[in-house]
Amino acid sequence: MPLMLFMVVARWAAARAQAGVYHEGVDLLQRRLDLEQTNLCNSPIAPEDTIRPIEEVASLRGEDGWCYFGSTGLWARNCGLSRRSKNMMVFVLTYEVGYIPVLAGPWATEKALFFEDGRRMTLRDHDMPLDDAYCFVNGWYNLPRAQVVKNFTFLEEVSEAACKDLEKKVPNYHSITLSDIYAEAKDCKRSWHTAASRQR
Ligand SMILES: *[C@@H]1O[C@H](CO)[C@@H](O)[C@H](O)[C@H]1NC(C)=O
Repeated sequence: MPLMLFMVVARWAAARAQAGVYHEGVDLLQRRLDLEQTNLCNSPIAPEDTIRPIEEVASLRGEDGWCYFGSTGLWARNCGLSRRSKNMMVFVLTYEVGYIPVLAGPWATEKALFFEDGRRMTLRDHDMPLDDAYCFVNGWYNLPRAQVVKNFTFLEEVSEAACKDLEKKVPNYHSITLSDIYAEAKDCKRSWHTAASRQR
């Protein structure tokens, strides 16, 4: 086997193995949660709710949006469960396992992002770079981590202030829908990969 091909295959196998670890970890966590929480935050979503403002959906369904949209994935469901139990550890544990395949491999190379205001950040998450970008821009990486993770009251205070601020800055703040969120994530991934292929 030519060396290059061997390296590609080895890398693929390593990624698969890590993805396996990831899915096992998440499954385990999910089973534990399911035992504890039965099937909370995992109900079917009415199709029209994905294009209805999230604020409207939450009031119409009488449910926290994270919980109502829980069946779309652990990112939403475990946030919903954390909010219900006022304990962020459910969410934190999901991502402690979830980021292994993203951040613990040779593919997690550092890339720099340059913002219009002259700021620069480096990140290693090529899977969903938007996450690092909005945390950085909004200053959330400067918050005291232990308080954010372990003190739900503190997190609620900080969230409240951040939402008030974003309400002023984001024009369609009150009408954002789930499909808007998906579209933005997709857009961001596309420009990230276009920029990455231009650099090569
Ligand atoms: C948790 O956060 C609240 C609100 O900021 C604060 O008043 C309280 O002292 C914090 N508790 C601990 C144990 O740090």
